[in-house]
Amino acid sequence: MVTNVQFLVFESPAAACREVAGEIAALIRSRDLIGRRAVLGLATGSTPIPLYRELIRLHREEGLSFRNVTTFNLDEYLGLERNHPESYWSFMHRNLFDHVDIDPACVNLPSGTVSQEEILRHCRDYEDAIREAGGIDYQILGIGRTGHIGFNEPGTPMDARTQKIHLDPITRSDAAPAFGGIDKVPTEAITMGCGTILEARRIALLAWGSKKASIVRQAIQGPITDEVSASFLQTHADATFFLDNDAASKICD
Ligand code: F6R
Repeated sequence: MVTNVQFLVFESPAAACREVAGEIAALIRSRDLIGRRAVLGLATGSTPIPLYRELIRLHREEGLSFRNVTTFNLDEYLGLERNHPESYWSFMHRNLFDHVDIDPACVNLPSGTVSQEEILRHCRDYEDAIREAGGIDYQILGIGRTGHIGFNEPGTPMDARTQKIHLDPITRSDAAPAFGGIDKVPTEAITMGCGTILEARRIALLAWGSKKASIVRQAIQGPITDEVSASFLQTHADATFFLDNDAASKICD
């Protein structure tokens, strides 16, 4: 069923992130009360950094505990060791996990070093682990300039599951400064599929800045198409775009 995806516009990324962190904290606390875990789907990249900062603040200053939280990250570059500074494993530890009381055994990311022969099995295992955890309660997403969610680049079908993908040249050039040159950016990654993402019970897509304005408009108001995988969120019953003024600037009334 197609619904109009909801979007909320905030004066700053920090203000948007306070709202999203508040929803996540409420979820974690409500699960704590009934002795159940909360399952979070997490993203990397520059966009969620202020969200992770706010979650760390809630942990330090307001007693939010992550001991009953399980996490699944969207993706990981293929060919990077965990301790590579640009691996998503490193990113997540640097920006969130090292600063909260999460059980390291409950942190899940796809492997960047799985062999080509083992990739299919590894992706199936990742899907199984999500299912065994009870599915994702709350999924955080960013959006790439290609319209990707996770690393579901243009042409990836709506029902795709966790799989190996080739990174789009635009995505690789956006990552080039962090890697110190496009030649150093991996060409492949493992990503949760759009089908996996769309099974999350609640989805929050975050986007900031004028560079995202055009693709945000396409995702919210354009056709539902595998050319813009974020447009699939229009079919989700509980997905919200959290935007700053610049990212929302091309949305038409
Ligand atoms: C990251 C991910 C990507 C990013 C997207 C935006 O785990 O899955 O979809 O969210 O590329 O990246 P930033 O936030 O750096 O603009």
